[in-house]
Formats: sequence, C-alpha cells, structure tokens
Amino acid sequence: MTEEAAAEGTLSVTDSRTGRSYQLPIIDGAIRTLDLRQIKVDADDFGLMGYDPAFQNTASCRSDITYIDGDKGILRYRGYPIEELAGRRNFLEVSHLLLTGELPSPEEQRDWVAEITNHTFIHESIKKFIDGFHHDAHPMGMLVSAVGALSTFYPEAKQVQDPEVRHRQIVRLIAKMPTIAAFAYRHAMGLYYAYPDDELSYTGNFLNMMWRATELKYRPDPILERALDVLLILHADHEQNCSTSTMRLVGSSQADPYSSMSAACAALYGPLHGGANEQVLRMLRTVGTVGNIPDYIQRVKQGEFRLMGFGHRVYKNFDPRAQLIKKVAEQVFEVTGRSPLLDIALEIERIALEDDYFVSHKLYPNVDFYSGIIYLAMGIPVEMFPVLFAIGRTPGWLAHWEEGLLDPEQKIGRPRQLYVGPAQRHLES
Ligand code: ACO
Repeated sequence: MTEEAAAEGTLSVTDSRTGRSYQLPIIDGAIRTLDLRQIKVDADDFGLMGYDPAFQNTASCRSDITYIDGDKGILRYRGYPIEELAGRRNFLEVSHLLLTGELPSPEEQRDWVAEITNHTFIHESIKKFIDGFHHDAHPMGMLVSAVGALSTFYPEAKQVQDPEVRHRQIVRLIAKMPTIAAFAYRHAMGLYYAYPDDELSYTGNFLNMMWRATELKYRPDPILERALDVLLILHADHEQNCSTSTMRLVGSSQADPYSSMSAACAALYGPLHGGANEQVLRMLRTVGTVGNIPDYIQRVKQGEFRLMGFGHRVYKNFDPRAQLIKKVAEQVFEVTGRSPLLDIALEIERIALEDDYFVSHKLYPNVDFYSGIIYLAMGIPVEMFPVLFAIGRTPGWLAHWEEGLLDPEQKIGRPRQLYVGPAQRHLES
C-alpha cells in the first residue's frame, strides 16, 4: 500500500500509563503495528510493540494471490473460486494463474506446457545424490535435501532481481518436483528410475515415473490422472500458511529460490502441516475398526491426542477443499475399489460432526482428512503424501516468493521478541 492510500478511519488509543491519546490510521482493516512505536512512557522507552505468538492476528504482507474467508469457507485463487478451478482447469493452468495473475490463453498454455515439459529431467548428479540416501530414508527428507541441492546446479539462481533468471528457476522447480519426488520413491523401493515422458500430461507423467515397470509406454488411467490433477489444484496455494510464510521469510534474505523452497518443504514436513495426511492414515490404521471409534474419540476429547485431519487455523466452519476432495474420493474408488479405511474415516467424520466437543471447538475435516485415503487407494505409500502436497504447493510458494521480492515495502523479515530472561548479571570472579 502506498503512503497516499487513504485511511478508512482511525483507531483512538489512550495510554493509561501517560494519559496521552493517539490516532492510528486504519487501512484495509488493519493498523500498522509500527505506528504503535510512537506510544512511549518517556523518551528512552523503545515504544509499544504488538505481541502475537504464531502470528494469529498479524498480516505480514499485502498479497493479491489467494483470498480465504475462513468463516464462510471461501477459497479463491486470483479471484477465481476454487470450485470452478478444480472443476474446469488443470494444474498447469492454475499454476500459470497463481504465478502471473491470469489464466493462460490457449497459445500461452501451449508455450507454458512446452516450457515445463522441457525441464522435467534432472541432472544425473542429482540422481546420484538421491542414490546416496539410506534405503529407508523418508522421501520428504530426500525432497528437502534434493531441492536445496538444486541451487548448486543452477548458481545463476542467486540473481533474484533478474526477472528472466527468476522465471527460469520457477519453470525448473515446477518441472522437476515430480521427477525428484518419483525418484525418491523409486530409490526407497529399490526400483530403477523411470525417466519423464514428454508426451504425457504433468500428472500423467508423474504417474509414469512412479509406476512404469516393464511396459515400453506407460498409459495412466485418465480418472486417476485427473483426480491427482484436482488434488494438486486444491493444494496449490493457501496464502500465508507455515510453509509459504517460511518461503517468503527465507526469500526475504534474497536467498535463491531452491534454498528458500527447501526451507518451505521442511516446514511442510511437520505433522501439524503437510505431514497431517500421513498422520490421518496412521490414525485410521490405529483405530482399526469402526467399533473402536467411540473409544478413540473419547480419548481425543480427554486431550490424549488430536483427531488428525480435523481443525484448521483459518477454516472454522468447513474447509471447501475437503468438500471437493470427498467427491474426488468417490471417483477414485470406482477405479481402485473402496478402501476399508474410508468406512472408518466416514464414521469418524459422522460422529465428530455431531459431537459437542468438535462442534464447540469448530473442528471440521480439513483437506488432509481425505487426501491420504485417496493417495493410498492409488497405491501411493504413506511417506509420499507430504511429497505430493509439496508438488501441489510449489506454484503457490513460488508466486509468494516472487511477490515478496517485488514488493517495495518488504525488507528482510525480522520479528521482534519480548525478552523475559534474566536482567544483567555478572560472572563470579
Ligand atoms: N483434535 C482435537 N482437538 C483439537 C484439534 C484436533 N484435531 N484441533 C484443535 N483442537 C482443540 C485444541 O485442543 C484446543 O482446545 P482447547 O481450546 O480446549 O484447549 C482448540 O481446539 C484450539 O486448538 P489450537 O491448537 O489452538 O488451534 P489452531 O488453530 O492453532 O490449530 C491445527 C490448527 C494445528 C490445524 C489443529 O487443529 C490441529 O492440530 N489439527 C490436527 C492436525 C491437522 O489436521 N493439520 C492439518 C492442517 S491443514 C493443512 O496443513 C493443510
């Protein structure tokens, strides 16, 4: 926001310590916390700060990428409702939208697909790098490392102020993520690496690199190919979540995009974020049978553990992605057969949605509640779930990284703290 932007009102603040009053401009429904700094007890006072652990009520940037209304269950990318995009567009079109602000024209889409397809191969040395991991290495650990390692292959990526250089790295990252992901999987399975097939779609090629065995040409099931594409669209962006904020924060130091995205992948790895779908599956397996659900729910309510796949920092009524994904699940199960875990999941959902604890805490299924069951039905192992999330989130991370870099208001990110440790003390002589 430029300084000329008109304030829509002011916040009157009176400091009871001094009796002085202040008028803080309100712009776009926010005050600038830096405006609080003028509020001092005396000239030596540092000035008032805002204290907001976990950034629950602090906007760290202005963004025109994704809009969420958590209470109404609204999610829009660049203004388009997620329901329309997931129903009528593919992942690469949505990536173009997130990155440039507009859906591609047919010509732009042709060029964009060609550009991405042209960069799907990874350097043979990255393959060797993946080879170096232990056979039971978690694929997310391999992804975090391999994405970071890409920066050593493309040293030009450091030139983050150059738009052409930035564009090349964006294309490389979107193109290579499925390849790294599939290679990490095949390494864990002890299988040969299946190279990209330029004739397949983005998701069709990913399935090819995951599953190709002895056939000369892998032909993905069109329903599974489309289902995966929809899942990637649903995960493509979610404004300032933990991993995206990490991407922006690391990017604000002008680190190259590979290093920044490696950090974003690491943030996504945590069980409270992208690791949640993996945890959902483990939870469903622990529950084991529909009969065990009431006891399990009781233990959740007693605070023993959380119901994974439930609750969201932003969505407090429903997660629109969860509703879309439920439909995708039905289509997938028509191809793969119904998973018994789905019955457990549906029963947990039914009980939880009627239970006072979950209703009063506004806990609803989030996107991860179903995505894991779908992936499992497709034959994708649990450890790969957050990796798939990362492939989907890549264009969102990159759009935010670039937006942050181009925002004249942004500087290197550096929060304040409230120091609560000991006052000055001295070593005994
Ligand atoms: N099961 C049981 N209780 C829960 C759950 C849950 N899944 N989630 C929150 N609560 C309870 C908390 O115990 C707390 O209760 P209290 O007020 O009585 O102490 C209250 O709800 C608020 O919880 P917070 O942790 O403060 O809520 P927050 O908004 O910080 O957390 C989060 C959001 C992390 C997603 C949380 O709901 C959770 O841990 N869910 C399970 C993990 C999960 O599914 N994560 C995926 C998130 S979506 C994504 O990353 C794509």
